Amino acid sequence: MCGIVGFTGKTQAAGFLLDGLERLEYRGYDSAGIAVLDGGKLETVKTTERIKNLKDKTENGKKVKGTIGIGHTRWATHGAPSHENAHPHTSQNRKFAVVHNGIIENYIALREELKAEGVDFVSETDTEVIPQLIEKYYDGDFFSAVAKAVSRLEGSYALGILCADCPDTLIAVKNFSPLIIGLSKDAGFIASDVTAIVSHTKDILYMEDGDMAVLTPEGVKLYDSKGNEISRKPSVINWDVAAAQKSGYDHFMMKEIMEQPGAVARTIESRIRGREIVFDGISLDGEKLKNTERIEIVACGSAYHAGMVGKYLFEELLRIPTEVDYASEFRYRNPIINEGTLTVIISQSGETADTLAALREAKRRGSHVLSIVNVVGSSIANASDDVLYTWAGPEIAVATTKGYSTQLSVLYLLAVWAARILRPEQSARTEKLFDELVKLPELIEKVILSEPKIKEMAKRCGDPESLFFIGRNVDYAVSLEASLKLKEISYIHSEAYAAGELKHGTISLIEEGRTVIALACYEELFEKLLSNIKEVKARGAQVIACAVEGHTEIAKEAENVIYIPKTDPLLLASLEVIPFQIYAYYVALYKGCDIDKPRNLAKSVTVE
Ligand code: G6P
Repeated sequence: MCGIVGFTGKTQAAGFLLDGLERLEYRGYDSAGIAVLDGGKLETVKTTERIKNLKDKTENGKKVKGTIGIGHTRWATHGAPSHENAHPHTSQNRKFAVVHNGIIENYIALREELKAEGVDFVSETDTEVIPQLIEKYYDGDFFSAVAKAVSRLEGSYALGILCADCPDTLIAVKNFSPLIIGLSKDAGFIASDVTAIVSHTKDILYMEDGDMAVLTPEGVKLYDSKGNEISRKPSVINWDVAAAQKSGYDHFMMKEIMEQPGAVARTIESRIRGREIVFDGISLDGEKLKNTERIEIVACGSAYHAGMVGKYLFEELLRIPTEVDYASEFRYRNPIINEGTLTVIISQSGETADTLAALREAKRRGSHVLSIVNVVGSSIANASDDVLYTWAGPEIAVATTKGYSTQLSVLYLLAVWAARILRPEQSARTEKLFDELVKLPELIEKVILSEPKIKEMAKRCGDPESLFFIGRNVDYAVSLEASLKLKEISYIHSEAYAAGELKHGTISLIEEGRTVIALACYEELFEKLLSNIKEVKARGAQVIACAVEGHTEIAKEAENVIYIPKTDPLLLASLEVIPFQIYAYYVALYKGCDIDKPRNLAKSVTVE
């Protein structure tokens, strides 16, 4: 995690650095800092609070002169979020300053080596070895000192580096952590992602692992890991700064919830020509599909929950055995993956360290890897055989909403596309699903209309010690996501259970006044779920239920009912999740929580 920015140009650097960091705060917000070069001297300003505090300290950057600088917002891994551990880190003689996102795995050995040579360390971080190593190798040549230092590092790193002797040169290095370069006529930018620089330029150079870049106001030179100069075509970003702003909403999360009809429409409609589903530029074809014996879906967090819906979809429509795995578990077992396996990787950010490692493991074992990713040019997108972008636009709130919804949409498209190839005998079923799929944005819009009712329910929720979500089949997959949303942002303990499993232990926790949220939209199992509701009611639970319109009998059992429109059972998750995103939002709001930046979390988990 962590966010980094850098700038070299002809105007004051600090303003850009602070604004850029504010946009990257979702990546971590334990502490922050900037370093600026002014008249050959490195000036650093740090805080253990939010970027807002850095802005206040520096009068929005005005007090920090200099036209070249770097900045960092931290999600602590090595060492507490203290002033000493905040980036940028400087070398002993303050000749070099470094911001780093990633983990240096061999930092202890390097630290011991440098200490034995008389270098003093002031922080507990892994990062501090980097400026110290650069200083050790420096003989007047900034570039070669960085190259030598980098050759000693093991692990993941995106770096922005300043040298006090080079008043307009910023060096950037990337290895397994995200870093992009923004190009403009008389300035160069670096950042962990596009949101930090899109208001300055839309011409972006995506760095690849092993790349090193030298930026000056005159331009950018890119080098490969062997030091050879290389050229790469820049990409042009097709969304503008408004997409990364709150546009009148109090929180990004609510803005992103409301954007879901549009985002899902974009994801689906951009692939539909008439009744055809067209995935431009992917190499997965009918031949490869026909040789697929198993599908392995690998992801973390909400993306894993989207993957659970994918399992129901693929098994039902394709009749191909499908597993869903947490990336952090998958990478450390001995998975049965081979040429007959299609691995589907799901990741909003495209940078999650465990997911990336799992992807590499799947490829190593011969599997074809297709990724569902939101961030263009991200590490997962680059490392995959095929990528299907979700086109959700930038998602800033740490708790994902439109990211998850658009992942579901891509899974639906993929399932219908593959079913048409593999199961022509089931075409009536597949086409029925397709017809419902194209209506999805409209139906999501309808569910969003119940926001005032859900807000009222959330107001009454208060701050319970814990609550439970139950569901069966797709309802169960959604209950996992609904429960995660609530605990992520409201800090209320909540658990999701497969409703049939409740009586095998968890029901002992149900007592007078406990809230149970019952997802009862999967109509085939509606009666079963109704029985589960009766079981918890009999033990004193208060029930909030979600059901498909028309199932009014549920109101006899549940204190509160949210109805969603009827759709194909395989698409239910897309409608059913919306009320619980809104519910989590308002419960957290009434508790006074920091909705967009919940404690201890980061949006992009680039460490394992
Ligand atoms: C973090 C985020 C979650 C997200 C998960 C996976 O934990 O807080 O919202 O679901 O990472 O992220 P990815 O970018 O791989 O989808």
